[in-house]
Amino acid sequence: MTDAASLTAELDQVVAAAREQLADAKDPETVASLDQALLGKTSAVVSAKKQLGGLAPEERKSVGQAINDARVALTELVDQARVRVADQARAERVAAERLDLTERLEPLPRGSLHLNTQARDRLEDVFTGMGFTIAEGPEVETAWYNFEALNIPEWHPARGSFDTIFVNLGEPEEVMLRSHTSPVQIRTMENQEPPIYIVAPGRTFRTDTADATHLPAFNQIEGLVIDRGITLGDLAGTMQEFVHAFFGREVKTRLRPSYFPFTEPSAEFDISRPDGSWLELAGCGMVHPNVLRNCGIDPEIWQGFAFGFGIDRLAVMRYELDDIRELVNNDVRFLRQF
Ligand code: PHE
Repeated sequence: MTDAASLTAELDQVVAAAREQLADAKDPETVASLDQALLGKTSAVVSAKKQLGGLAPEERKSVGQAINDARVALTELVDQARVRVADQARAERVAAERLDLTERLEPLPRGSLHLNTQARDRLEDVFTGMGFTIAEGPEVETAWYNFEALNIPEWHPARGSFDTIFVNLGEPEEVMLRSHTSPVQIRTMENQEPPIYIVAPGRTFRTDTADATHLPAFNQIEGLVIDRGITLGDLAGTMQEFVHAFFGREVKTRLRPSYFPFTEPSAEFDISRPDGSWLELAGCGMVHPNVLRNCGIDPEIWQGFAFGFGIDRLAVMRYELDDIRELVNNDVRFLRQF
């Protein structure tokens, strides 16, 4: 015989216990299994309902009411727990995925190109604008390219004036760090039919001691033009055009007679400083017929001119440096200015 009072008490107990269990639940799985245990087919509520038939008719109403109250209370507790657990899971996920939008990275300091590189790029721009193409040659050369093909035979005193750094390879004084970019003239004429209009920037080396105007490793840009009917006037005009494009119209230029074995006539090319003095910037001249012949070019048909600028000196002039060694000292206080 079922006892109405103990049935009601049992339901109260189930609800009280459920309140605690659900409060402890930490995840959706636990809540789901409690839901099943408290309201499923084998739950106390369902079995109480089955026992209603064994009660006296006057008790059924109040016990039925108690069962219904317990079911509503349990449903509500389960729903609350489900919402709480879901909220908590979401909060944890949000915290884990949180982006700190106030975070700010210091911008990386931006470097700049070396002054020589800036000067070389600018030189290439000016000369390509005049129709020249860029040529290149190796920094380690043989005596043929650095001297002989340029009309400087072994016995020639001009060899001594190049302060050459020799490499200990092959015959003595046979392999060297190129002392000028003029070997690129030869390499170009060997590989290319005239007409030729090239400039060749690159590093050059001499046994100079570094001082305010000299570096043992420096940069030159060689120019070579081979075409029909080229004259000294073309050389002077090209050099002047270049200087105006590179430095501006106010800079004056002059050619001063000089001597190079690979040009005839030869000249030094000077530009005017703001204080009125002259700065030697380049060697130049009409390509010597022997040089053309050495490269299999007929001097009766083709003529040309060549020049060689010191790029470091151009940079010194253009950026008004006091000392050419600034270009290799790597003092950031200096470098930051450009
Ligand atoms: N190669 C010469 C030097 O370094 C410069 C030069 C180049 C002169 C081309 C004439 C023609 O001194």
